[in-house]
Amino acid sequence: LYRFPLLPVRGIPLMNHIANSWDTIWAFRPDPSDILIATYPKSGTTWTQEIVDLLLHNGDADACKRAPTPERSPFLEIVSPPPIPSGIDLMKNMDPPRIIKTHLPFQLVPPAFWENKCKTIYVARNAKDNMVSYYHFACMSKTHPEPGPWEGYISKFMRGELAWGSWYDHVKGYWKEREKRNILYLFYEDMKENPRCEVERIMNYLDLSLSDEVISRIVELTSFEIMKENPMANYSCIPTHVFDNSISPFMRKGQVGDWRNHFTPEQSKMFAEDYDKKMKDVNIPFRTLI
Ligand code: A3P
Repeated sequence: LYRFPLLPVRGIPLMNHIANSWDTIWAFRPDPSDILIATYPKSGTTWTQEIVDLLLHNGDADACKRAPTPERSPFLEIVSPPPIPSGIDLMKNMDPPRIIKTHLPFQLVPPAFWENKCKTIYVARNAKDNMVSYYHFACMSKTHPEPGPWEGYISKFMRGELAWGSWYDHVKGYWKEREKRNILYLFYEDMKENPRCEVERIMNYLDLSLSDEVISRIVELTSFEIMKENPMANYSCIPTHVFDNSISPFMRKGQVGDWRNHFTPEQSKMFAEDYDKKMKDVNIPFRTLI
């Protein structure tokens, strides 16, 4: 679990314990009512999990405080290692509709999700902020290899040598499949700019209809400021030797544009040139500066 090197599964670098349980993960059979939240790490997963859970519970904060996030909405691909609870085990005792999260790229999602037409919400975040957030997370999370210095981390990100592989392939993989698979494709920046609008989109996608008042409450309860202080949503449940919040809190800044505090102008230019090449075959409407 701790700082182990990554192991490839079909060419995608994954955490050791995930690669070692791959057959179990690939064979997983969801229920058709299961809701999948898929993301590249650090693009707004926890935020979306909290929104969906509150929507399913009509905005009842107590219902969503019944357990910490990883237990209310387990990781599909975390099969064994304590202290993060094993996702597949947790799911056995959950009432439908279950909220399942995954960071797997599209091609590694167990095919039964598509056979069963499970609702799937994908959240994408602009590459530079996503990378900054992932860098700080890799510093504090002992479940990831050491990120090393920032300069080298940019290269690793560009080469897709981080857990769950290439950001570029990840956002493109789900984008290309979104119509065929009826995937709701959201952007972190839209959620920041107009959270109510995005909460309503998720509500409609899930065939729910809540009152204006409840929607307002959900928007408030899922603001960065409230979630940061919510022990059931801020990952303070994970012991310090696994997630060291004193190095960087899990709920770090929750902003758009923090990349400006990290990239030098030269790094930004070099990154942009490479980005244009990698992203030229798709037209995904990332609204912020790459
Ligand atoms: P930063 O590191 O930029 O602060 P994930 O849940 O996918 O791991 O993503 C974590 C990122 O989302 C962190 O970004 C975290 O602060 C941010 N985040 C979590 N909850 C949020 C919220 N309610 N509003 C905005 N950002 C949030």
